[in-house]
Amino acid sequence: MDRKKYIVIMAAGSGTRMGAQVPKQFIEIDGKAILQRTIEVFLEACPGISVVTVLPESFIPYWKNYCILHNFICPQVIVKGGITRFHSVRNALERVPEGAVVGIHDGVRPLVTPALVADMFAQAEYVQALVPVVPCVDTMKVLRRNGEVLEAVPGETVDRSVLWGAQTPQVFHSELLKDAYTQPFDTAFTDDASVVEKYGKSLSYTMGERLNIKITTQDDLVLAKAIMSMR
Ligand code: C5P
Repeated sequence: MDRKKYIVIMAAGSGTRMGAQVPKQFIEIDGKAILQRTIEVFLEACPGISVVTVLPESFIPYWKNYCILHNFICPQVIVKGGITRFHSVRNALERVPEGAVVGIHDGVRPLVTPALVADMFAQAEYVQALVPVVPCVDTMKVLRRNGEVLEAVPGETVDRSVLWGAQTPQVFHSELLKDAYTQPFDTAFTDDASVVEKYGKSLSYTMGERLNIKITTQDDLVLAKAIMSMR
């Protein structure tokens, strides 16, 4: 039997690296906020999916007002974020029942395609934890900072062929993810997959999308606009 589908949209970061007036998830591209664009991908891929949106507490009124002004009528459970992404996810999972499939997605990744999202939710009926990954194309160096200078760490090399970049959405059986998130915070938790791995459960992987970028800097914004205008 199909599990009920939930998507948790992580948008509680302060986004200070962008230097904009509002956190990056609220920046508008062609009159539409990045966050709205991101949510719409999931609504298109999985009609009827339950949306949980995690926001900085101080921007909850802003977002509610935005949705009214832009006639963005999407039932959303709005949750306030925590001190780190880990704490934000933990808050959101309180609003997700056991026995569901839950995706966790960065609100600043609006370029994921509905096709990948639909495929991942379909696969997640059969696997308990699914992570989209892309192969590393750059040569990787292990360096450390010495003042202004970058220098090699002696004896440290990496084999690029085993390196993959993890993206979101990462999709889980909700009872597993809720259990994994009962662990105490660890600074090594950079994504949800790392929380599940530390909990001792295995992950499954699927090919991600190179254009599913996380909009973090002004350069990413330029790139995102170019990709959107091409599609
Ligand atoms: O900071 P970073 O780029 O890793 O954030 C990834 C995602 O997690 C962003 O979408 C951000 O809004 C979200 N986040 C959050 N709560 C935090 C920190 C980040 O929801 N406390």
